[in-house]
Amino acid sequence: MKFMELARKRYSVRGYQNKPVEDEKLKEILEAARLAPTGGNRQAFQLIVIHSAGREEELKAIYKPEWFTQAPVIICACATTPEGQPYREAGAYRNVAIVVDHLVMAATDLGLGTCWIAAYDADAARKVLGIPENVYPVVFVTVGYANIEPKPKVRKPLEELVRYERW
Ligand SMILES: Cc1cc2nc3c(=O)[nH]c(=O)nc-3n(C[C@H](O)[C@H](O)[C@H](O)COP(=O)(O)O)c2cc1C
Repeated sequence: MKFMELARKRYSVRGYQNKPVEDEKLKEILEAARLAPTGGNRQAFQLIVIHSAGREEELKAIYKPEWFTQAPVIICACATTPEGQPYREAGAYRNVAIVVDHLVMAATDLGLGTCWIAAYDADAARKVLGIPENVYPVVFVTVGYANIEPKPKVRKPLEELVRYERW
């Protein structure tokens, strides 16, 4: 699929079919994440792949909406820092953002639905997933086959978003 078509096609999927994600497709979206650029090529991230089947109750502590655990696969994208060093928020966010965007676009290309989730309970995520102190869960992404239709995209016009040459 052409990139602009892909960008228009992606939408936040908040309802999933009871159908697993094929291992090959999962591998491909993880490979797309691996190929993402990162600061200094340090690849200071980790992806926790969670198969939700049978884990619905504990996962609900992380994010409550029903559709979260409807998704057969949930990916927790984490920023990592060397042991003992403080977590550097801005850099970590940038790295994880590009990694997750690669992952989400690859999933869209394979006919899968996704949704970024930032409104999760970080303490619950640490507890349920056993995430250590020097690792920061930045965002969760649900992955699966959509059972909802996209709504029209609501976006500001370019004139409200872009300035040329200076502020
Ligand atoms: C960084 C980020 C955090 C988000 N967090 C949530 C979230 O916690 N819950 C949710 O339902 N959607 C979340 N979304 C999805 C946005 O609401 C959605 O992308 C936006 O409304 C545009 O709609 P679209 O993705 O369908 O084009 C998040 C998106 C981004 C990029």
